[in-house]
Amino acid sequence: MTVTIPHLYKKKKDRDPIVMVTAYDATMARIIDDGGADILLVGDSLGMVIQGRDNTLAVTLDEMIYHTRSVRRGSRRALVVADMPFLSYQVSSEAAIASAGRLLKEGEAQAVKLEGGRHMAETIQRLTDVGIPVMGHIGLEPQKVHAYGGYKLQGTTQESARHLLEDAAAIAKAGAFSVVIEGVPAQLAAEITASLAIPTIGIASGAHCDGQVLVSYDLWGFNPDFNPKFVKRYCTGYQTLKQAVCDFTQDVRTGHFPNKSHTPK
Ligand code: KIV
Repeated sequence: MTVTIPHLYKKKKDRDPIVMVTAYDATMARIIDDGGADILLVGDSLGMVIQGRDNTLAVTLDEMIYHTRSVRRGSRRALVVADMPFLSYQVSSEAAIASAGRLLKEGEAQAVKLEGGRHMAETIQRLTDVGIPVMGHIGLEPQKVHAYGGYKLQGTTQESARHLLEDAAAIAKAGAFSVVIEGVPAQLAAEITASLAIPTIGIASGAHCDGQVLVSYDLWGFNPDFNPKFVKRYCTGYQTLKQAVCDFTQDVRTGHFPNKSHTPK
């Protein structure tokens, strides 16, 4: 059964956890879709894991469209949500509609995700008014990394926790169909989740959201140097893939590949 937005609301009602995983190309999208994820997020984290940058800020709308189109080709069942990159939506609601429209028309995304709380409410309202489904993203907003001075836990004071509760309420009222909660204390993520009718999807925010998201390259263990507390590695991808290349190298150098079975008659 294909995953739709009403299906996600039902999951929240039934307390059936939502699973979201990032995807950046058709091959990985197929693996993640076949693995049973509900949502494929074409995250602007591709600036880091695909492009090798330190943060997501340089990712362009054209790059997001290219990767989203590839992910759509590899997916059959999961809902495909595309991140709106830095400055493709913050300047004005009109710019946001134009950018999100390209992600849906050219990238074939089924929804977009954007960072920000109550200041983004008007933009979210305009996007949903024209029929573009929006997933919010509050707490640690990676596009604000320079303003924070690093990737830091948010909502740790009474005042900032109250602001995050207000942010969540404002974007839900504006029509967001779901919200990512990143990098906030577990107790606060639980409070936000209980306060909203729309599903929350957590990352680095404990176990009490309506769903969880991980960057696929992190859950596959592709980067041996990146091992934060909030990530669980489900395989040793770096070692496995590296070993395959070592074996191929060895085979070619020792004349074991190609052999007769790999050779056309
Ligand atoms: O860009 C991304 O991959 C994200 C997730 C980590 C939520 O925004």
